[in-house]
Amino acid sequence: MTRPRTSIHGEWSSRWAFVLAAAGSAVGLGNIWKFPYITGENGGGAFVLVYLVCIAVIGIPIMMAEVLIGRRGRQSPINTMTSLSEEAGKSRRWSLLGWSGVVAGFMILSYYSVIAGWALAYVFRSGIGMFHGADADQVAGIFSELLASPERLLAWHTIFMVMTMVVVARGVRSGLEKAVRFLMPVLFILLIVMVGYAMNTAAFGKGVAFLFSPDFGKLSRDGVLIAMGHAFFTLSLGMGAIMIYGSYMPERASIAKTTFMIAGADTLVALMAGLAIFPIVFANNLEPSAGPGLIFVTLPLAFGQMPGGSFFGTLFFILVVFAAWTSSISLVEPAVTWMVENHGMRRLTACVWSGIAIWALGIGSVLSFNVWSDYTLFGKTFFDLMDYLTSNIMLPLGGLFIAIFAAWVMKDADVRDELAIVNKLGYRLWRVLVRYVTPLGVIIVFLNAIGVLHAG
Ligand code: PHE
Repeated sequence: MTRPRTSIHGEWSSRWAFVLAAAGSAVGLGNIWKFPYITGENGGGAFVLVYLVCIAVIGIPIMMAEVLIGRRGRQSPINTMTSLSEEAGKSRRWSLLGWSGVVAGFMILSYYSVIAGWALAYVFRSGIGMFHGADADQVAGIFSELLASPERLLAWHTIFMVMTMVVVARGVRSGLEKAVRFLMPVLFILLIVMVGYAMNTAAFGKGVAFLFSPDFGKLSRDGVLIAMGHAFFTLSLGMGAIMIYGSYMPERASIAKTTFMIAGADTLVALMAGLAIFPIVFANNLEPSAGPGLIFVTLPLAFGQMPGGSFFGTLFFILVVFAAWTSSISLVEPAVTWMVENHGMRRLTACVWSGIAIWALGIGSVLSFNVWSDYTLFGKTFFDLMDYLTSNIMLPLGGLFIAIFAAWVMKDADVRDELAIVNKLGYRLWRVLVRYVTPLGVIIVFLNAIGVLHAG
């Protein structure tokens, strides 16, 4: 298979468009929904510190590896892995890495869309003033009522899937790029407004202390590993999303610089979400460790009490939907491009088929909050299992092999050429990280995942 110089699916109009799109992929429910609740569950500061270290030593080096593989291959992750392994004179089986990414993307999007559906539902609940003056019991009641209704969850999940596939169907330049160009700046502005509100609550200092003063006594060994796993999820690493976006990257743009910007923006958004949420949690004497429902059972309570709360609440959940939208697009792009390349399908047809498959898989997650809530495997519902398998096993494993491929399989000269890092020390540092530090870190995450699975 020969390697094309440009992607047949198009190219970003500039490096900024790439940064915005990749940041749009990275910033999502992981930052706004998952990061606050796992931080709350794992005691705050120390967990945040470990997470930040993992972003720096594991996340950033792997992101550079994934982007460089993508840009050199210029095809869907499956075909990129095939042609780059041929170029390096190695087994074509490396394409399995692309395949596992496609599967992981389908699995993640199937439940991701259900959670995004909750946020969609909350845009309207907040908009009609449902939380106005509501107490904790009423807010919790509204949430459990939503979860108890498979029809409603299915309807919102369906709407979100259609939204996602419409943007993907329009293609890189007209669909993805236009969407993120508009969505990302709006998202930042909305977050600043939310942090501004939190600064005016009495508990802002308490929220800041919770997030930034590490107390290692509160962090379990498992917590360390959860923090490391989340670094993959939040940066969209290990499943080809960043690889396919890299394949649309202009030739001359710097991979190192853009990676720093993307990881920086992602981290900033997560920390801002934490700064917006925890002061509100503490100001209202709520539990930081409330679990996956955290933002849905605590924030509406605050919105219900604050002046203009229906407005801010609506704005906040619109923000969550936007963030989820730009991420979900990247979860399915690797599969769609492969269908177009290998089966001569029209983009629209590829979108319809993958959309239907993901939507159908999502029904399992919809039901796991109600009808199937008692059906568990290793103590996990269908939804928990999807999240667990992807975040803790498939993404770290994908990241591990991406690092191995870039650092041990590809020719050093090719890698150097693609990365084009002028600073020799910088390149060496990256190489040491990707060759040794990163794979070792990932192996620890993976062993933990197996251990937990056995214990469960
Ligand atoms: N990074 C996204 C988030 O934080 C989720 C995601 C994971 C997107 C993997 C693409 C690939 O919400």
